[in-house]
Amino acid sequence: MIKKMVMLCIVLMTGVLQAESENDQVNAIGSQLPNHIRSLLIEEMQAITTSMDVIFRAIIAGEHDQVVPQAQAIHDSFIMAQKMTEADRKILEETLPEAFIKRDQAFHHLSAELAEAARNEDQAKQIKLYQDMQNACIACHQNHALDRFPNLKNVSTGE
Ligand code: HEC
Repeated sequence: MIKKMVMLCIVLMTGVLQAESENDQVNAIGSQLPNHIRSLLIEEMQAITTSMDVIFRAIIAGEHDQVVPQAQAIHDSFIMAQKMTEADRKILEETLPEAFIKRDQAFHHLSAELAEAARNEDQAKQIKLYQDMQNACIACHQNHALDRFPNLKNVSTGE
């Protein structure tokens, strides 16, 4: 009897572990994309990171006019969109889950708002939006790039 229960426990636990790793797989957009599209995504992410660095320096210096073009650049940063063929677009449509697209849109919307706040020289709003954008980076990485950022697995994003 005890032996049976132990066996059952092991079977159940294996099931849970398998489901978890499958879940991580589903949560990994990059590895599901063909290499050339994944490279474009990485290129875009690196460009965004550079813009975020520049924006940070500009915000803490009160240089609103420096924030505007960088925030706008993130908003317009469709390296992927610009360099993709029709066929690539189709693959992307089939691969990207709805939740990812929603996050991406929300993120781009934040960058437009940041550009606007900078145009209005609203320092407090820029800081708030910058933080919202950081949270959006983390939330998307946690939900869709766990293979690239495994340390985010158990991080609370406050979502
Ligand atoms: C809508 C989803 C999404 C948002 C929002 C997002 N990212 Fe990413 N990011 C990804 C995915 C997916 C990957 C993993 C790509 C891969 O697996 O190769 C990634 C990877 C990266 C990488 C690693 C690139 C490399 O060299 O491998 C960096 C850096 C990065 N993101 C920065 C950012 C920053 C900074 C922000 C916010 C300002 C951000 N990302 C917002 C989806 C997102």
